[in-house]
Amino acid sequence: MKILVTGGTGYIGSHTVVELLNNNYEVIVIDNLSNFKIDVIDKIKKITGKDFLFYRGDVRDESLLEKIFSSNNIDAVIHFAGYKAVGESVKKPIMYYQNNLISTLNLCKVMSKHAVKNIVFSSSATVYGNPQKLPISEKDKVISATNPYGETKVMIERILKDIYNSDNTWNIAILRYFNPIGAHKSGLLGENPNDIPNNLMPYIVKVATQELKKLSVFGNDYNTKDGTGVRDYIHVVDLAKGHIKAIEWVLKNNGIDTFNLGTGRGYSVLDIINNFEKYNNIKIPYQIVDRRPGDIAECYADVSYAKEKLNWSSEYDLEDMVKDSFNFAIKNKQLNLLKNIF
Ligand code: NAD
Ligand code: UFG
Repeated sequence: MKILVTGGTGYIGSHTVVELLNNNYEVIVIDNLSNFKIDVIDKIKKITGKDFLFYRGDVRDESLLEKIFSSNNIDAVIHFAGYKAVGESVKKPIMYYQNNLISTLNLCKVMSKHAVKNIVFSSSATVYGNPQKLPISEKDKVISATNPYGETKVMIERILKDIYNSDNTWNIAILRYFNPIGAHKSGLLGENPNDIPNNLMPYIVKVATQELKKLSVFGNDYNTKDGTGVRDYIHVVDLAKGHIKAIEWVLKNNGIDTFNLGTGRGYSVLDIINNFEKYNNIKIPYQIVDRRPGDIAECYADVSYAKEKLNWSSEYDLEDMVKDSFNFAIKNKQLNLLKNIF
């Protein structure tokens, strides 16, 4: 089976390509490298010992998509490509709507033309907004998101449903990720934002490697067990494995459905700091500051539907997540130092 992975050199995409190759899928990646570096490709090949086809290009480029679909017998697509920073999307809404929506529309158009009607799409728990009840189930209401990034996910989910309603030979798995953290055990793949990170784990890691001085904890007066925000953190390799199950599911002609990918457990910001310190034997200096506007108190998934329909559930625990995140950061820093010397 041949799978096209858009955004396959990115954080979640690269881990998924590893799992696809390990499961003997043939893989083709398209990525414009707007958020990741070309060396990821060699690292994936090193980890798996397998080769795959890479197109450096933009999913908005319809002629390139035409070329890819004409020259390869593709069975299904996993669509990761897109911009994902909440704060940036508020400042640059046109850029976000343009990239996330146009790439998806072009992709679906070319897929339809070539009768490749199997797709797995990266959505987000952000579509639930401020949850009415916990844990969050797929049946809960999707709200209008509070930022342009989240809105693109709500809109794309809607577009995919409309496509299915117009032609029910499509098979579409919409995956709503909770909070992916962690890295590949090899330390070769992980998340390493160039700028000051917005998300909790990349920030903690940069404090641990002394690139940043101190973590700011955004509020300790939420109605949660210790007052800090609670999230459902999931190991990125577990998430990647969820995509293999989702691909199997779409290839069995199951129509359209939506699945939460999380662990079903909520951890607070202080839980994450304490476990990071304990398992990596390192101190994370932090200060409590005001709440971050737009943040919700608590969010974790009901994961029973993914277990029932996809036969998937997470395996890694918080110890793995904090250790693997730090391991990647150290290896990555060492590699960068070596590159600067030679
Ligand atoms: P990422 O930025 O690491 O990966 C996205 C990849 O897509 C990058 O390699 C980038 O170069 C590429 N890309 C972007 N626009 C493109 C385009 N027009 N054409 C070709 N390539 C393009 O992000 P990620 O964390 O791996 O996220 C993957 C997907 O999952 C995204 O759609 C994101 O919105 C979604 N998601 C991520 C999270 C998270 O916390 N990481 C949570 C929920 C959903
Ligand atoms: N936090 C801090 N300090 C920081 C960063 C975060 O205290 O420097 C706290 C936040 O207040 C929150 C928790 O850590 O309580 C997690 O915050 P993240 O920014 O890591 O994650 P979010 O849950 O806010 O959002 C993430 C992605 C969204 C996605 C959502 C659900 O950024 O794109 O998960 O998948 F929609």
